[in-house]
Order: sequence, then C-alpha cells, then structure tokens
Amino acid sequence: MTTLTESVSVERDGDVAFVVIDNPPVNALSFHVRQGLLDGVNQAVGDGAKAVVVICEGRTFIAGADITEFGSPPKGPSLQDVQAVMEDCPIPVIAAIHGTALGGGLEIALCAHYRVAVDSAKFGLPEVKLGLLPGAGGTQRLPRVVGVAKALSMMTSGQPIGAQEAAEYGLVDEVVDTLRSGALSFADRAVSNGWPLSRIRDRNEKLAEGTPELFESFRAGIARKTRGFLAPEYNVQCVEAAVNLSFEDGLARERELFMELMTGPQSAAQRYYFFAERAANKVADVPRDTPKLSIERVGVLGAGTMGGGIAMNFLNAGIPVTIVEREQAALDRGLAVIRKNYERSAKRGSISAADVETRMNLLTPSLDKNDFADVDMVIEAVFEDMDLKKTLFAEFDAICKPNCILASNTSALDINVIASVTSRPQSVIGTHFFSPANVMKLLEVVRGDETSDTVIATTMALAKTINKVAVLVGVCHGFVGNRMLFVRRLEANQMVLEGATPAQVDRVLYDFGFPMGPFAMSDLAGLDIGWKAETSTSSSIRELMCESGRRGQKNGRGYYTYDAETRASTPDPEVETLIREFAQSQGIEQREVSDQEVLERLLYSMINEGAAILQEGIAARGSDIDVVWVNGYGWPVYTGGPMYWADSIGLDKVVEQINHYYQNSGASHWKLAPLLSRLAASGEKLQNAVP
Ligand code: 3HC
Ligand code: NAI
Repeated sequence: MTTLTESVSVERDGDVAFVVIDNPPVNALSFHVRQGLLDGVNQAVGDGAKAVVVICEGRTFIAGADITEFGSPPKGPSLQDVQAVMEDCPIPVIAAIHGTALGGGLEIALCAHYRVAVDSAKFGLPEVKLGLLPGAGGTQRLPRVVGVAKALSMMTSGQPIGAQEAAEYGLVDEVVDTLRSGALSFADRAVSNGWPLSRIRDRNEKLAEGTPELFESFRAGIARKTRGFLAPEYNVQCVEAAVNLSFEDGLARERELFMELMTGPQSAAQRYYFFAERAANKVADVPRDTPKLSIERVGVLGAGTMGGGIAMNFLNAGIPVTIVEREQAALDRGLAVIRKNYERSAKRGSISAADVETRMNLLTPSLDKNDFADVDMVIEAVFEDMDLKKTLFAEFDAICKPNCILASNTSALDINVIASVTSRPQSVIGTHFFSPANVMKLLEVVRGDETSDTVIATTMALAKTINKVAVLVGVCHGFVGNRMLFVRRLEANQMVLEGATPAQVDRVLYDFGFPMGPFAMSDLAGLDIGWKAETSTSSSIRELMCESGRRGQKNGRGYYTYDAETRASTPDPEVETLIREFAQSQGIEQREVSDQEVLERLLYSMINEGAAILQEGIAARGSDIDVVWVNGYGWPVYTGGPMYWADSIGLDKVVEQINHYYQNSGASHWKLAPLLSRLAASGEKLQNAVP
C-alpha cells in the first residue's frame, strides 16, 4: 500500500490497483482527496496496473465537494483536473460505490468508465438543495446516462435514487454483493474481455428525448414547488444546454450558471442553512457520548389529527406503535385516516402496496392505557388541556416501566408542570410535532428543568431515526415557533384594523416566499378552533367572523370565500366591511398601509421576539430559530430563516424600525430585545448568537 496524501492510498490486487479514499465523515472531496485521486490513478497506470478501482473506506462513497471549502481560494487540483485524468485514463477505471454517491462524488463516478455498487448504495445530485447546480459536468453527463427526463427530476429535486433503479437507468453497470471483491471481479472481467473505455461524454443517444415540449411540461410541473428558487431553473437550463450544445459548450454554460449561483445570495443562505440544521442536532451541554436508551416500541395516546401522524413516523421507520384512544369510534377513525394516508402514498408510488400492510401490521390499536406497560416511550397527543394532561401523566407514571420516556405533544403548555405530577420528572420531555405530523420535518424537543441528559440525547437521536429535524428548546408559552407566530399574528390582526386587507397581508408574505399568509392559514385550520358560541363576546375580528357563520375553508366562508368545487379563494367585501366597522367601534382610524410596512411589521416583530427567545435561553443558538422557521412554518430557505435574514438586512436597520414601531404602538412585543440592541451595536450576527 502506498499512502499518497493524508486521505488517499493505493493498493494492488493482481492486475488491479485500488485507489482508496478515507476522509471521514463522508469522504468529501477536500483538496487532499482530489490530489490523492489524481496521483493515485496516474500512479496505477505508471506501475503497469491493468485497471483502477476507486473505492472509499468508512460509511460512504464520496458524498460531494467539501462544502466547507466553498468561498475559500482554490487549493490543489480542481475536480475537473481529476475527472480528466480518470476519463482519459488508458486503462479501465471503475468506481465502486457504497453509501451515497452525491454531488461531486457522483460527478467523479460519472467520469469512471464503469460503475459497480452494492444494493444499498444511493446516487444523487443534491446541489439544488444548496442553491447550486452540479458544477463538475454532472449536468452534462447525467442526462447522457439516465436520459433527460430522469436527470431533470433528479437534479431539480435533489433526491437520490437507489442502486436497483440506478442499474435500470444504466447509471450502475453491476450491483454486487460485496463491494471490494465484486469490484475486483468486475475489473478482472473488464481486462480479460477487453471492454471498451466507455466515456459518458461521448454518448448522445439519450439526449434525443429532450424536446422543447418535454422541457416546457417539466417546468410547468415543478413551478409551484420551486417558486422563488433560482437553482431549479438553472439546473433545467443546463440540461437544455446538454441537449442543444456540444459537450464542451454545455460544460461552459454549466460553469457560467454555477458561478452565478455560487456567488449569489440564495446559495449562501442555503449553505448556511445546511450547517445550521446539522448544528441544531448537537446539544452543547449534553455530551455526544451520553448513553442513550433503546427505543424499540412506542406508545401514542390519542389517535386524532396529531396522534395518527406521529404514529406514522415510527411505523415508517419500522418501530412498532401501540396507539390508545378513549373510545372505539375515535380509534377506528384514527386508524382509517392512517390507512388512507398510506394507500394514497401507495397510489402515488412512493411506497408499495406491501409496505402499506407492513406498516399497518406494526400498529396495535387499543382502548386500554395499561397496554403502555411495555413501551420504551409514550407520546401524549390528546386535547390541549393542562388538567387532562396532568391526569394522564400521573397514570403513565403508574403504568409505564422505569426509564420509559414520557413525552407530550403539547404546542404551548408548561412541560415542568406536566412533569411535576410524576415521580420521574427526569423522564418527561416535550416532543412538539407539526401538522401534518407525518409530513412536516420539524420536531421541537422541549427540555424541562429536570429532563435528564439521557432522555434528551435519546430523543434527539430518535428524531433522526424517524427522519425529523430536531431543535432543542426550553419551556415558555409556545416554545420557539409558536411564540414567534403569536407575535406575527398580533401584528397581522392589528394591521387589518388599521386598514390593510387580509388579502394584502397574505400576498406580501406569499411574495416573500411563504406558502401562504396568516389569514389563508387561519381559514385552512378553521376559524372556530377553540371558539364557543356561548362565550363569544364579539370582541375580536375572529369572534365576529365565527358569530356570522364564517368557519374558514370547511364551510366555504372565512376571510375569503371559497369555490365549492375548485377551492379557489376570493377576497370577500363583506369581511372588509366587518373589519372596518369593528375598527371604527374601537376608535381605530383606517389608512393605507404600504406593503413594506406590512412586511416589516410581520417579520421584524418576529425577529425581535426571536432575539428575546434567544436571550432567555429558550433557543440555544440563533441558527436554531432559523431551523424552526424553515422546517416548521415554510420560511423560504433561500433567505436562510429569520435570524439570517435580519443579519442580511443589517441589524442596525432592523433595530431602527423596531424602535420606530415601538414608539408608534407602545406594544410590549416591539420593545427592543437587549440582545438585539447589543448585537447591532457590536456588529455581531444574530445567526451566530448564543444566550
Ligand atoms: N462537505 C463537508 N462536510 C460535509 C459534507 C460535505 N459535502 N456532507 C456532510 N458533511 C458533514 C456534515 O456537516 C456533518 O458534520 P458534523 O458531524 O461536524 O456536523 C457530517 O459530515 C455528517 O453529516 P450528516 O450529519 O448529514 O450525516 P448523515 O449520515 O445524516 O448524512 C449525507 C450523510 C447524506 C452525506 C449528508 O451529510 C449530505 O447530504 N451531505 C451533503 C451532500 C451534498 O450536498 N453534496 C453535494 C455537495 S456540493 C457539490 O458537490 C458541488 C459539485 O457539484 C461541484
Ligand atoms: P385532536 O382533537 O385531533 O385529537 C385528540 C385526540 O385525543 C382525540 O381523538 C380524542 O378522542 C383523544 N383523547 C382525548 N382524551 C383522551 C384520553 N383521555 N385518552 C385517550 N384519548 C383521548 O387534537 P390534535 O390536533 O391532534 O391535538 C393533540 C395535541 O397536539 C394537543 O395538545 C395540541 O395542542 C397538539 N398539537 C396540535 C397541532 C395541530 O396542528 N393540530 C400541532 C402541534 C401540536
């Protein structure tokens, strides 16, 4: 074995040279990897090897360019230099793939003459998720292998495909049982049979499907999902270049668009966000080696909107769930919703019909809480009522085995009060899922005063197992996300009293990049949640709306009116009159409110609240707040999240406006958070701030 750089070595096995990359954790293409690869292939040829296998140690094949190097001056050979040496190598080069061949990693593999992979390997170009496009020829080579339509979908979604699918599309030449011996056998056959040195760049036959109509319909198909993002469209343009230009000109176009994205604000925000999400999973005062509990069976109490969705997350991960309800009808209803969701996924093709049954078979329905006796974690998802939750946690305490984690899905209540009714407050934690719980990625993990490190570490790790992005938060009303949402809602309501319309407020947020504004969201959720006719006193717009029979989308009348068939919404003049009259009755004079004011009041109020949350230690870092808002509330990731966005505007400007709105309104949520004031004065960033 020859060591070439700190992360690459070459080993010989008969006629075949193995260039071995070992750059933990994900074998990213740091400069020493690029140098080692280049030297390794050259050395193999110089030493008279008859074939080269590029293979990785550790958990994965190369998972991409080293994102930490982005923005620094280039060092060592470029990716393109390495690719040229591989592609033009006079002996067969075979990429042997396990784990994930992503981004630059897949682009390296596309320059090998052949690719072999184990069955569990995955292949993808996820650059779009970083606001980028594959910048090392991936946009020109992938469509030449898998075809234009498949390349477009892989590049604009960033989603990887599995080895079997990759083999069907010609991306993998052989799926092998054991990576090293399978690759060796493949290489030996390539040599003895004199297989050609196949260069993807020379293959053009699959480009023929790239008609203008295909591009047009593809663009229409992704328009809604990719609204506001630059990178998906640029990825499409690169594939168009692959179809319409020569390979070399296509590469030049790819380079040009790549550089534009790389130096632009969206990718900077999305790259920041990539690391923010990973930082969120680390808890400063809980050591990484804290022992974790094994969670092999979960109990869920309540099979309503949230309980059913929560259960699905565990079933999807192969973890059995016992779900308990208070009455048969509610249990049946809950189970039917779960089954219907799975059947819909099967119909769409995202899971198989057999998966539906496998998952349903992992679910044990019951009406008896004693069935929680053997679960490792129980998650309560009943009505938002403190007395009820206290009664139930006292019961859990009596029923559940020692060390069982007792979790509540409360969206705002005090976890410490809930914990206080048990004899084991160290086992109590909040797991705040977002609706629909089987879809939304965010999990706010709420740490009580006495929650143990083990319970925190276990819950954070479990979140990853069930494919959630977890953020650890402290106890306060509404935790991080809802507490900021409450402030935004106050401002939205106040502004419509002052003369903005619900449609204007919603439009401003939609144009900013949110999927919908607060009034459309209220209509969707139902205006009558928590409202009772008997106690309604016409003292808010919402009460007036409910009193006049406006319940939201469900009865076709809310802040908007909804078409019974298409569900299309139109602003309703009756609502505007209702609001105007109520404002008058409150002595509020209506005026024109500018879009800029709407935007600032909705979002700067949240920034101020976010800073207060940070200062109180409810969030552990500024970036955690961004992770909450991007994953839980649809804040557009290409602006990074509220804290990052505030930094990009300039905290001094934000502070000036917050002070202005405080002077105008005197409302307590506009009182400048001291942390924000301090950061603005010192020129530090909110995204990096800690309590
Ligand atoms: N560069 C630098 N560091 C990376 C990295 C990369 N490409 N990918 C992952 N890491 C780091 C993470 O920051 C994390 O570090 P930490 O432990 O200090 O927090 C560590 O590797 C492990 O990452 P995860 O926690 O995400 O581990 P998982 O096992 O859950 O996931 C993964 C592994 C699927 C590889 C995931 O990390 C991932 O999706 N990585 C990004 C892949 C990517 O985007 N590649 C394209 C890069 S851009 C590119 O290649 C440009 C080219 O076209 C020119
Ligand atoms: P839901 O009303 O849809 O479901 C509650 C379920 O609990 C019902 O099926 C009910 O029959 C059952 N239940 C009530 N008392 C019970 C008992 N003693 N034993 C067994 N089952 C019982 O309510 P939803 O929306 O699912 O909310 C549940 C919890 O999740 C609440 O604490 C809520 O604040 C929280 N939450 C709700 C979100 C949402 O968007 N709906 C989002 C995040 C959290």
